Amino acid sequence: MKELNPPQILLLGPGPSNVSYRVLRAMSTPPLGHMDPRFMALMDDVCQMLRDTFQTENQMTFPVSGTGSAGMEATFVNTLEPGDKAVVCINGVFGTRMADVAGRCGAEVITVEGEWGQPLDVQKIVETLKANPDAKLCAIVHAETSTGVLQPIAELGQFIKGTDTLFLVDTVTSLGGVDLQVDNWNIDVSYSGTQKCLSVPPGLSPVTFSPKAVEVIQNRATKVQSWYLDLSMLMNYWGGDRLYHHTAPINMIYGLREGLGIIAEEGLAARQERHSTAAAYLGAALTDMGFSFFAAEGHRLPPLTSVFPPEGMDVEGVRKELLTDYDIEVGAGLGPVAGKIWRIGLMGENACVQKANVLLGAIRDFI
Ligand SMILES: Cc1ncc(COP(=O)(O)O)c(C=O)c1O
Repeated sequence: MKELNPPQILLLGPGPSNVSYRVLRAMSTPPLGHMDPRFMALMDDVCQMLRDTFQTENQMTFPVSGTGSAGMEATFVNTLEPGDKAVVCINGVFGTRMADVAGRCGAEVITVEGEWGQPLDVQKIVETLKANPDAKLCAIVHAETSTGVLQPIAELGQFIKGTDTLFLVDTVTSLGGVDLQVDNWNIDVSYSGTQKCLSVPPGLSPVTFSPKAVEVIQNRATKVQSWYLDLSMLMNYWGGDRLYHHTAPINMIYGLREGLGIIAEEGLAARQERHSTAAAYLGAALTDMGFSFFAAEGHRLPPLTSVFPPEGMDVEGVRKELLTDYDIEVGAGLGPVAGKIWRIGLMGENACVQKANVLLGAIRDFI
């Protein structure tokens, strides 16, 4: 068997992003047992650092074992019961996926749809919620990675706060990269991923549940259909009585702890500012080279810039050459813009002018 020796790729796609040596080193330290009190102390650190990053006091905040999609499933299966109504907002791939997951929970799914590349109309969502006051939840994607749109959500949270509906927000590509205030924006349930702006490999999904969400879950009439993702049991391991549920992915948790530590050292505001500065630099340089933006002005997601390459450029051919000849990964378009746009991530470690310049230098060879 040959030793594993993958090339060092500059990961400027929609995630994963590059991971610092500190995180890799932490992940290669010897595993403790998942019931070892010393590991439990590390688990507590991770939960607290996640609260700080989500900007929440929510006790029920921890990383689900699995990628962002596991977090998505965990949040829906715990909050929805068969027959419940779920309002799901869709303007890209991940809103579409949330509607699919909600439907699989047996919910009656009411969709509010918007154009790809544009933010959703908050007034339209509020009208739908007013027409459906019995909706169990309203789900929306904060940072739609398929389009590069950053959705304003604070105003929607303000409306939902005064209702019985839960506000569920996908923060997979926003946590650690853009302003996200779970408590101030009245978000009841959120899930994220480690491989984007946190710059930790894929494998964990940080989740948080407000006291309002916990009450809804505690009053369920039916058992959660997923044993693995049943919050009541997971919380007995992450908090409570520390009962064994499943073997925690120890070394992933080491990595997340280190990644969150790096964020705490930098400071959330400084990190968000770094993402914005890098995206503005990249956007201006790409515009000079003839690229045009896909995401609506004023709603562009700093960690992910979606652009139409200049007229005449072989969109997919150049993207593939960037990977094979330059070791730079850039994301392809999905759905209606497949083969038409590039999705360029400057996330976590990579949100800096230096990394943007490496890509810009390579692109110049094709102009
Ligand atoms: C907004 C959003 N939600 C959910 C997911 C699913 O996460 P994962 O691929 O880690 O399962 C992604 C992944 O790119 C995403 O960008």
